[in-house]
Amino acid sequence: MSKKLWGSRFAKKTNALTDKFTSSILFDKRLAKYDCLGSIAHAKMLARQNIIPRSDAALIVRGLNSILMDLKKGNFKFDPNAEDIHSNIQEVLTKKIGKAAFKLHTARSRNDQIALDIKMYIKDEIDALAQLITELQKAILKLGKANINVIIPGYTHLQVAQCVLLAHHLLSYIEGLERDKGRLSDAKERADSMPLGACAFSGTGLPIDRNFVAKELGFKNVTANSIDSVSDRDFIIEVLAGLSILSVHLSRMAEDLILWSTKEFSFIDIDFSFCTGSSIMPHKKNPDILELIRGSVGKIQGDLSSVLILMKGLPSSYNRDLQLDKPALFDAIDTVENMLEVFIPLFENIIIEKEAIAAKLNDESLFSVDIVEYLIKKGISYRQAHDIVGRLVRDCLDKGDNISSLSASELKAYSPKLGLDIRKILNAYASVNLKKSYGGTSDGLVVKQIKRWSNKLGSAS
Ligand code: ARG
Repeated sequence: MSKKLWGSRFAKKTNALTDKFTSSILFDKRLAKYDCLGSIAHAKMLARQNIIPRSDAALIVRGLNSILMDLKKGNFKFDPNAEDIHSNIQEVLTKKIGKAAFKLHTARSRNDQIALDIKMYIKDEIDALAQLITELQKAILKLGKANINVIIPGYTHLQVAQCVLLAHHLLSYIEGLERDKGRLSDAKERADSMPLGACAFSGTGLPIDRNFVAKELGFKNVTANSIDSVSDRDFIIEVLAGLSILSVHLSRMAEDLILWSTKEFSFIDIDFSFCTGSSIMPHKKNPDILELIRGSVGKIQGDLSSVLILMKGLPSSYNRDLQLDKPALFDAIDTVENMLEVFIPLFENIIIEKEAIAAKLNDESLFSVDIVEYLIKKGISYRQAHDIVGRLVRDCLDKGDNISSLSASELKAYSPKLGLDIRKILNAYASVNLKKSYGGTSDGLVVKQIKRWSNKLGSAS
């Protein structure tokens, strides 16, 4: 066990169980890089402000750079007995450069140090997540573009409803994902405020320059209240909330694809390389990846709940409970990154089963709203039109008739306004292209949506 940063005040050694129970090194070691970068900026500032000698700062910076190199090469040996990543790095630095290392923790506490490390980590991770989301959007867009002429029966309440372009359905995913990116980038914006210099929670009597540290580390702002700086974790909660909503979107997409890949739907084929089989039923090709994407949402929502509940009971300022924000944050970020990473190639390899889909478009009840609107255009009130078409659809279903095979007189029996010209709209193509209201599924509008997203996402084709 490395020497404790606070050991001198203690009359005896801590119990081994205390050490084991309080240690966070097993998970906060992930912050090692940020801990070093933060310390380098801090040491430079201490020297600039004449708080520590330049020569000591130079040694500290050199030592920390060498630790950064070790971390990069995978040569840094984390001490499983260290209390946390801060103690671990302090200890290794002391071994590397000797006494000068003792000056590094001047005008700093682990309370502001950990807040800094997490904020730096979050800012990087949000950039990485945004990139992955964009890749997924591009894969979805490509699938839509490549199948621009495909019309699918759309569903509400999981009952056949109306025709839409497949691309229109896929573009709806892109919209949600774009808002997810926006939520995460908003969270990043608010996390972009540098807490170091808050020290334990009240600031310091030493003449530090917090703006210099913020600039060195690429922060836009400096936190304005030292208590708030070490005590709040709303920036973590915001990220977790953003990830939770994103994960719900991913789950919903996965659920659509699972349904579409069933024999009953047969809209798509998921490539073998993204399916698994059954140990007992030789015929099975199961969409396990999609099911695990759907199932992972519980974990992420759990991570959000865990930090919300953690924060709810805390008084202001720093409390050690805050240590437990990290496993939840790391788990959610890892899980979402894994979900996105596998979803991208899965999407890229989806085959659209055009013939099977086309066979499902013969159901004329898909056009019932179009007939209602045909009657409205002929001056019939919405209510009356709904009644007329309701009776028409019911009779056809009861008798097993098609609306398109009814004669002029049979149609007239429902309404004098109902003519044989309705046959023109009783097909999927006509139905889709009637939906010209802004945001609707007509092909001209969908092509425009595709162009807009191609420009925005910078996709090649
Ligand atoms: N490991 C702690 C955390 O994650 C930081 C250390 C602060 N500890 C302390 N006793 N003040 O929040």
